[in-house]
Formats: sequence, C-alpha cells, structure tokens
Amino acid sequence: MPIVSDSSGAAGNIRVFQDPDALAQAAAEEFRRRAAASIQERGRFTVVLSGGSTPVRLFEKLAAGVPGKGEFSWSAVHLFWGDERPVPFSHPESNFGSARAALLSRVEIGPANLHPVPLEGKDAAAAAIAYEKEIRSFFKLPEGRFPRFDLVFLGMGSDGHTASLFPGTPAVQESKRLVVAPWLEKLGNFRITMTVPVFNQARCVIFLVAGAGKAVTVRKVLEEEDRPGRFPAGLIRPASGELFWFLDRPAAGKI
Ligand code: 6PG
Repeated sequence: MPIVSDSSGAAGNIRVFQDPDALAQAAAEEFRRRAAASIQERGRFTVVLSGGSTPVRLFEKLAAGVPGKGEFSWSAVHLFWGDERPVPFSHPESNFGSARAALLSRVEIGPANLHPVPLEGKDAAAAAIAYEKEIRSFFKLPEGRFPRFDLVFLGMGSDGHTASLFPGTPAVQESKRLVVAPWLEKLGNFRITMTVPVFNQARCVIFLVAGAGKAVTVRKVLEEEDRPGRFPAGLIRPASGELFWFLDRPAAGKI
C-alpha cells in the first residue's frame, strides 16, 4: 500500500498513507495479520471497532477479503464496539449498524461473535452496566481487572475526543469501570463508551485518522507534551501493548 512514512516515538508508531483508501488497506492487512497470529496463539481474536465515518472503508476492505498471508476464520473473531450512540441499530448514527451494513452482512460471522452494546429496551446508563457485565463474563474477569483486547481501533475528533471520551468530561477520568454512559452537552445526548483503562490494556491500539481538519490536533496530541491529558486521545498509551497512528497525508500535514 502507498505508505508515505513510517516512524516511531514516544507517542507510538506513526504511519502516514497517501490517502484514506491506502490507510484503510493497511488497517485491513494489519487486522488480517493480527487475526491469524492471535487465533494461532490463543484460539480467538478479540477486536474493538470504532465508530464514525473513517472506519467504514476498513470495514469494506475486510468484507471484500484482504490479500496477503495469514488465513483466518471469522468464526474465531469476536467483535466489540468502543462506543455507541443510544439509537436503534437501524438508525444511520448507529456504530453497530454502520459495521453491519459495510462488513457484518458480508462475511461469515455469527451472532455469538458479535458483541454490540446491548441497547434493547435500556437507557444509556443501563446499557453501559449490561455491556460491562457482558465483557466481564466474556473475559471471565474478576472485579478490578480489565479485559485485554487483541486489537482496538480508535478514531479521533478534531477536538481530540476518542470513542465517546470528550475533553473535560468525567468519563475521561474513569479508572474503575469498563463502560460508562456520559451525558454530552455538546451533542445533547448520552453516549455509551469504553474507558481509558480498557483501551490501555489492549495488546494493540490503532488510531485511524484522516482529513486536514484533524491535522492541528494530531500534532498537538503527538508532539505537544505540554498538557498531558488535554486531549482524551493523548491518554491512550497501552501499558504493555503497541500503539499505532495510521494517518492520511492531510491529517499528518502538521507533523
Ligand atoms: C463515534 C466515534 C468517534 C469517532 C470520531 C472520528 O462514535 O463517533 O467513536 O470517536 O471515531 O468522532 O469520527 P470520524 O471518523 O467520522 O471523523
């Protein structure tokens, strides 16, 4: 894939791609490589998908099949969602609905492998509690422990939010719960989101960020240590895992 640069530093491994299509192709190849390795080593591949528009190209690439070595079976892949909007899965804003349309309806993955936020008949707070229970049960987690996902995809907004962890909101500081349901004044709605310690327990986190509108924030998050934690995306530093920033050229325009 047309990679423009590949560097590493305190803020992780930074790969810049020619355009969003090359970025998505690289992300799909990384997914495939890690899926084959995880399934071989641990018999399964646990993945957290991000929401928004950027990952849709990735979903489409995965649905089309990714060339390269390392076969894997979707039957050993378990998909979770890093955050969700409190809307029906059929709603255009649903992150699960977006993945279902672009990917899940086009690959051989069964309902037992899909772990969307359990919104049915629940308000956001109850859905967050139910999701946490489901994650704890899936990973057989004792209280106080965090799940270790094999791969987490995250996006970033131009304000430096990631998942539904927005600057200045209490959810960013959550250190005990796996999933919370913050009220977001700027959106006039609740969201359900996994928390920073969950993401930082992952084996690998890949940020997918495209577009010139994010370039200034990308630079601040990656290069300005002036106020660590100023941006939620800057708090994502896997303690014993890998961190990648997959950027297209416009998003990398200021670094
Ligand atoms: C969401 C996402 C959110 C997203 C960023 C970037 O539910 O919206 O989890 O964190 O990743 O807002 O969104 P775009 O990819 O649409 O720019």
